[in-house]
Amino acid sequence: MTTDALPGARPAPAGRAPAGATGAGLLPAGAPLLELRAINKSFGSVRALTDIDLVITAGEVTALVGDNGAGKSTLIKAIAGISPPDSGEMLWRGKPVHVSHPKDASALGIATVYQDLALCDNLDIVQNLYLGRERLHLRTLDETTMELGAKRALADLSVVTVRSIRQLVASLSGGQRQAVAVAKAVMGNAELVILDEPTAALGVSQTRQVLDLIKRLADKGIAVIVISHNLRDVFEVANRIAVLYLGRLAGVAPAAEFDTQTAVEMITTGTRGARPDTKVAADGEKDA
Ligand SMILES: Nc1ncnc2c1ncn2[C@@H]1O[C@H](COP(=O)(O)OP(=O)(O)O)[C@@H](O)[C@H]1O
Ligand SMILES: [Mg+2]
Repeated sequence: MTTDALPGARPAPAGRAPAGATGAGLLPAGAPLLELRAINKSFGSVRALTDIDLVITAGEVTALVGDNGAGKSTLIKAIAGISPPDSGEMLWRGKPVHVSHPKDASALGIATVYQDLALCDNLDIVQNLYLGRERLHLRTLDETTMELGAKRALADLSVVTVRSIRQLVASLSGGQRQAVAVAKAVMGNAELVILDEPTAALGVSQTRQVLDLIKRLADKGIAVIVISHNLRDVFEVANRIAVLYLGRLAGVAPAAEFDTQTAVEMITTGTRGARPDTKVAADGEKDA
């Protein structure tokens, strides 16, 4: 697996199944899907992101970790088109793209599941999944098609704990709600799913459901970025770990090259002292 920056403008390799918003099929696991180059973002005098270079690969889970204020949410919002960066480049499948609006991100196949999930409690699962993209038949709602689609979406993710797709979202457990939110994101043919603290509010068994769900997304060939404070969760699902420290990328490496102590050290100090064997972004090294 590579974490190196790759040259731009490479043609997208032929994919497997016809999926993904670009219609070209998902990239093979490990192929660079999204490349960030020298991303900068300031809020007034606060430099929230400084020269972020990061490659997100298909079929792999990249965990984005860092202390409060490290810039995780700002980076996600830049990728999702909610708050575009001040400067820098984004390449999608090797081609430069401009993501200046959430619509641009979803058109590419980037889906973001935020902590508040943006589900409607007073609607059932089918209604939530098809909110804003209702299927019609002879000018009335095509409930049959939507129910089938909802069932397929949940089955695709092996979500088996939901009793009825006509259940109100308000009655679901936290893990089930997360699953519905992820299903909704993936139904739009996402190639990259971003999850912001998906297990923060969950108990043990619900956390398990969500971690399994994340692994299944990656197994399907989807690239996943997951923000988490919980290093145990991170080590369980992540193929790669990217550490942000004060708005800089302190390092990115395969999860196997981290242990808890190293991860904590990098999160809290921005450097990893006694491990010169592991790649650490030059930009992330402290100069003072
Ligand atoms: N809308 C905003 N206005 C001003 N400062 C902001 C805004 N959003 C984030 N920041 C600042 O940018 C830095 C990074 O914040 P954030 O991305 O939310 O960090 P994290 O998600 O890692 O906790 C912090 O110093 C934060 O105060
Ligand atoms: Mg945040």
